[in-house]
Amino acid sequence: MRRGIVPGTFDPITSGHLDIIERAAGLLDEIVIGVALSPDKGGGPLFTADERVELIRRATAHLSNVSVKGFDTLLVNFADEVDASVIIKGLRAMTDFEREFQMAALNWRLDSKVETVFIMAIPEYMYLSSSAVKEIAMHGGSVRGLVPDVVCEALPHKLNEAR
Ligand code: PNS
Repeated sequence: MRRGIVPGTFDPITSGHLDIIERAAGLLDEIVIGVALSPDKGGGPLFTADERVELIRRATAHLSNVSVKGFDTLLVNFADEVDASVIIKGLRAMTDFEREFQMAALNWRLDSKVETVFIMAIPEYMYLSSSAVKEIAMHGGSVRGLVPDVVCEALPHKLNEAR
């Protein structure tokens, strides 16, 4: 039984994330999506941890071997906690490489039994990010297709709330 984790901030989950999760779910027996509860990103997340987890649960309801769990520890400790041997990350444009290689190298240094595997984003989602989605939505643009429908519905309400 091979279990993998797909970690991230998911603020919010995008169609690019979902594509990577679906492809990871086809490669391994089980996938646990690890939602970083308090990400060390400037400004803090728009959606609360519970909201991010709930949106992912709804967006992945069609995937029977996928579950969602928040974590607030080192990623390798989370992998150990859920008994996963693989970390799956999506890779988009060249700009992702530096950061992802650093994280993969450090995670390997922390626990070499956990393997990091990269899945290339499809061209359609190569330049898609949660920050870009929020920026488009904030300025009244349509994000339909860029995010799962549940996020498309939640985003305007959340942005109104945050204003
Ligand atoms: O959505 P993101 O910002 O690409 O996700 C980054 C995340 C959550 C995967 C990364 O910040 C992480 O692994 N955080 C846990 C803390 C950790 O283990 N840090 C050491 C590796 S550099």
